[in-house]
Amino acid sequence: MKADEIRKRFLDFFVTNGHAAVASSSLVPSDPSVLLTTAGMQQFKPYYTGEVDAVRDFGAKSTASCQKSFRTSDIDEVGDERHLTFFEMLGNFSFGGYEKREAITLAFDFITKEMALPISYVTVFEGSHSTSSGQAVPRDEESAGIWKELGVTDVRYEGMEDVFWGPTGSSGPCGPTTEIYCKSGSGEDTEIWNVVFNQFFYNGSREDLLAGAVGKELKPLAQFGVDTGMGLERLVMVSQGTKTVFETDLFLPLITKLPTGTAERTARIFADHARAIAFLVSDGVRPMNKGAGYVLRRLMRRIIAQGMDGALFAGLTREIFKKYAVVYPELNEVVITGVFNDEYVKFQKTMAQGAKELGRMDAVTPQAAFKLFESYGLPYEAIKEMAPDKTASLTRADFDKEFEKHQAISRAGAEKKFGGHGLILDTGELKAGSEEELKKVTRLHTATHLLQQALRDVLGSEVEQRGSDITVERTRFDFSFARKVTAEELKKVEDIVNARVKEDLPMTFVEMPLVEAKKTGALYYFKEKYPDTVKVYYVGTTLASAYSKEFCGGPHVTHTSALGVFKIIKEEAVSQGIRRIRATVE
Ligand code: SER
Repeated sequence: MKADEIRKRFLDFFVTNGHAAVASSSLVPSDPSVLLTTAGMQQFKPYYTGEVDAVRDFGAKSTASCQKSFRTSDIDEVGDERHLTFFEMLGNFSFGGYEKREAITLAFDFITKEMALPISYVTVFEGSHSTSSGQAVPRDEESAGIWKELGVTDVRYEGMEDVFWGPTGSSGPCGPTTEIYCKSGSGEDTEIWNVVFNQFFYNGSREDLLAGAVGKELKPLAQFGVDTGMGLERLVMVSQGTKTVFETDLFLPLITKLPTGTAERTARIFADHARAIAFLVSDGVRPMNKGAGYVLRRLMRRIIAQGMDGALFAGLTREIFKKYAVVYPELNEVVITGVFNDEYVKFQKTMAQGAKELGRMDAVTPQAAFKLFESYGLPYEAIKEMAPDKTASLTRADFDKEFEKHQAISRAGAEKKFGGHGLILDTGELKAGSEEELKKVTRLHTATHLLQQALRDVLGSEVEQRGSDITVERTRFDFSFARKVTAEELKKVEDIVNARVKEDLPMTFVEMPLVEAKKTGALYYFKEKYPDTVKVYYVGTTLASAYSKEFCGGPHVTHTSALGVFKIIKEEAVSQGIRRIRATVE
């Protein structure tokens, strides 16, 4: 069955079963707490809470859609067998209409009858005793029972991390899910459909939920919600019996357009990124150095560095247009190729300067490669490609090491004394005497940001930084708070920080004018004198949804998993109304 047929069948099936078909919303969501649309339910968020009436707007309590979606968290993984940035998500939604039995039966019928696919197994929620405020969500026996009645005997229980969905953004509907697994052409069981029961509203982010953040709670929604999501590309892969999505009729026309001899990984990156670029540009995104525009620029520069040019891109855009313009009339071939070509010219200029420099070098050391990247914006792949002989011994790992080292040092914005005795880093706040120590204080520094936010979560916004001092042994953080912090509160703070570490959130920064930065709600230290342009470091995938954001010069780790186990050693008074915490990372 061709992808077009599957998309149509899905929508027809749900329309036949009383759903209103709703067009995809833009990839750029109206919800400011989310950078790009990541799921079909996003455009329906207010219908779950009852703020808006589905019957009035759609003529039915349930809807179905094929939603343009984009997941930035997967950008670096693209090139392997399964990851995509842009994808289409099929979904059916119910707002106070049907509940578990009908939702599961509809999914079962669509997969086993309409698609004639066998289900390998399903997962259901095992229950949780430790959600926020200690609320328990019971084990989902009801769903398990319904699946068994339908003849699906392999029902597996899983926990909060895997089968409890949402919320998207800084708050929203969420709830337990049941997931359907089918076999792909490689014989592997693949999760294809996520059926969510939006029974709750949570007043925090998903990170808060998993960490059990204080002051955040799951409130039962007045009406039962259903939100399902099934990636079209994966369903097509399972239906067409291919090993990867790249062999399906959604990708083959793009892959076959590429010059013979294009490496498999490169081909997948080209195909994925070309689709993503086409859809982002058609929804109004333009290459920029921040937000969604930055995501677009990254995609464009990555493929240009790997050899994509205007003609090849135009060829791919043609195929994309042929395949998708009927479903997505906003696709505009001329605009897509025009935006690409502009960025191409800009990037070529910086690359040409870099190439000249490269020409003057003998063997390219990791240090030299990094310099090319820093001065001319030449990514690692481009350097390798432009001078294969000179870069024969250059590895990605060495380049990354250089990159990290440099980030750590340059972001410090501090006096550095190399080559001699004494400190290689002294920002006033952070002190390190060697590369080893630098790594340790960098981890402690990121931990300190998480600590401040966790303290605010547990003790309230009365907590404000009053001082900080980081050595290789520990971080010492002073803050305003009227009384002793109890052992129980300290434990909560510790748990929150460790939950963030476990989530392996990215830590990065954006630079912006001081006035703008203040509007982001980022924390800053009132005693400090800040320049007109500041860096806002944040932990999370976007600034808007970040768990922690602070004005800061760095350095920081790039991902929270680098911190290790966070431990509070001591809490004491410094003076009236000022407390001090000492903590370590192991
Ligand atoms: N919102 C859920 C998901 O994105 C189901 O649609 O997986």
